[in-house]
Amino acid sequence: MHDNQPGARRRLDFAGLRVPAASYSLPAPSETLHLGPDTPDRFDALYVGRLTVTDLTAAEAEFLRAYFLAQLDTVRDQNIAAFERRIPRRYAAVRPAGRAGDWATAVTCDPQNAQSLLVLGPTGTGKTHFAYGALRAVAETGVRVSWQAFTEPDLFAHLRPSHGRDDEQALRDVASADVLFIDDLGAAKLSDWTEEVTYRVINYRYEQCLPGIYTSNIPPKELASAIGGRIASRLTEMCERISLKGDDLRKGARS
Ligand SMILES: Nc1ncnc2c1ncn2[C@@H]1O[C@H](COP(=O)(O)OP(=O)(O)OP(=O)(O)O)[C@@H](O)[C@H]1O
Ligand SMILES: [Mg+2]
Repeated sequence: MHDNQPGARRRLDFAGLRVPAASYSLPAPSETLHLGPDTPDRFDALYVGRLTVTDLTAAEAEFLRAYFLAQLDTVRDQNIAAFERRIPRRYAAVRPAGRAGDWATAVTCDPQNAQSLLVLGPTGTGKTHFAYGALRAVAETGVRVSWQAFTEPDLFAHLRPSHGRDDEQALRDVASADVLFIDDLGAAKLSDWTEEVTYRVINYRYEQCLPGIYTSNIPPKELASAIGGRIASRLTEMCERISLKGDDLRKGARS
């Protein structure tokens, strides 16, 4: 088992094997001896970056790819079960749509280079629905990814100074999630404290290149004045913008 070695994990040639960047365990030598007496050693060398996939035989590469993908199948089922336990009931039926699948692939294969998503549009156009679909897409990749989801007002409630708790740790826990979803940016009343908290969370993710999903129904031109110019500027650089248009879907549901 090598999957607790972050350095080794980073050096494994995920792209060459065409598998997401995840923690995988290697097969036991007894499982690979049919591929050749040197196979276990070559797999070990590949795992720590001393060999690349092109140094393997085609049969070895195919075996390892299938072995790793089988591990994702197990995690995928666990991920989806956890996702379905945590998602708000209203959005329980969401499925990935539009860019969500490609985004999930980017988030799991190359998180440091994955753009975050800024989903904008008027009330009821499906921003929250889309965002939970994107989180589901991440779960469906089978890569173990920690995610946190808050509406902006709930995030402030969660981070409000609380007696007997390490408030800095609470902020770090939110800011450092593998994927962070903040719904309804600009929904809470702006104050020096809310602006500071949002700035610290977004700036951490900006500096560490961590992917997330942010939604708002504030028109793009008004975003800076609603959430603060320095936060809006970072979001603009770190996010791909998705604009949802149309009527309020809730009105359609009522008629
Ligand atoms: N693609 C979709 N297919 C089916 N139902 C959808 C879809 N998109 C949104 N809905 C439904 O429409 C309603 C409004 O969607 P949602 O809550 O995502 O809107 P919103 O843009 O987040 O609104 P707000 O700005 O008020 O938060 C919800 O009941 C949601 O489940
Ligand atoms: Mg919403």
